[in-house]
Amino acid sequence: MNDYILETQNLGLRYGAFAALGSVDLKIRKGTIHTVIGPNGAGKTTLFHCLTGERTPSSGSIRFAGKDLTRQPPHKRVATGMSRSFQITSLFQNLSVRENLRLAAQGRDGLAALAFWYSDSQRQQHLQKADEILERVKLTALANTCAGDLSHGQQRVLEVGMSLCGDPELLLLDEPTSGMGIDDIPIMTDLISELGKQHTVMLIEHNMRLVMSISDQITVMHQGNILVEGEPDQVRGDERVKKAYLGESGS
Ligand SMILES: Nc1ncnc2c1ncn2[C@@H]1O[C@H](COP(=O)(O)OP(=O)(O)O)[C@@H](O)[C@H]1O
Ligand SMILES: [Mg+2]
Repeated sequence: MNDYILETQNLGLRYGAFAALGSVDLKIRKGTIHTVIGPNGAGKTTLFHCLTGERTPSSGSIRFAGKDLTRQPPHKRVATGMSRSFQITSLFQNLSVRENLRLAAQGRDGLAALAFWYSDSQRQQHLQKADEILERVKLTALANTCAGDLSHGQQRVLEVGMSLCGDPELLLLDEPTSGMGIDDIPIMTDLISELGKQHTVMLIEHNMRLVMSISDQITVMHQGNILVEGEPDQVRGDERVKKAYLGESGS
């Protein structure tokens, strides 16, 4: 039996002669919070983009839930249960938090809401979904606030909420705390930890306290390849990891 929800084999991406991703064999076990860390430029976001379909790998393959998705477009990946956190720019700043979630529940094509066949009962279903997510991400008190009036940290939480609207099996989060104030980080930490109980989460994150406290498994990347993998305690004490990060600060 295979209990990996996601597996890559020899995954690589070149930009001209430069290998942003060398040859990555990543395995993500179902039901875990699996975090990818590594110094700047290690290839974490490139890996993420290959997984979500924003970039086509130059080599290798991606299997998700038993299917080969290496060359599938992003929307097909979403349909099979993969979801990523949205960019802030995809929030509708002038719409309420609840409306943003309703549109996400309705599907990636928000404009379908304007179509004449969008029935009241569908609308009710999507509102119900929005309310359920509001509870899960603890934004119920701000349901009627314009997204644009939320703090930066709350906007990031809302983005995570939007990625939950399609009931994904695998949730991909690229630096969900980036730009967040230090006071908001525990909120995101608790949220991801909660989500980890119902979804498989692949996280890219640089906040080490968050990473070490909630990850089941950590993959350390360096120069486009996997350097070390293990549980937080194994990774924390690894000399190779320290050296990779020292190289970053020394450059
Ligand atoms: N579009 C691109 N063209 C050329 N090089 C790129 C491009 N995108 C990223 N890179 C390079 O690929 C490497 C990995 O980048 P990235 O995956 O963003 O790293 P990380 O997310 O780990 O900081 C970096 O050296 C970066 O400069
Ligand atoms: Mg990055």
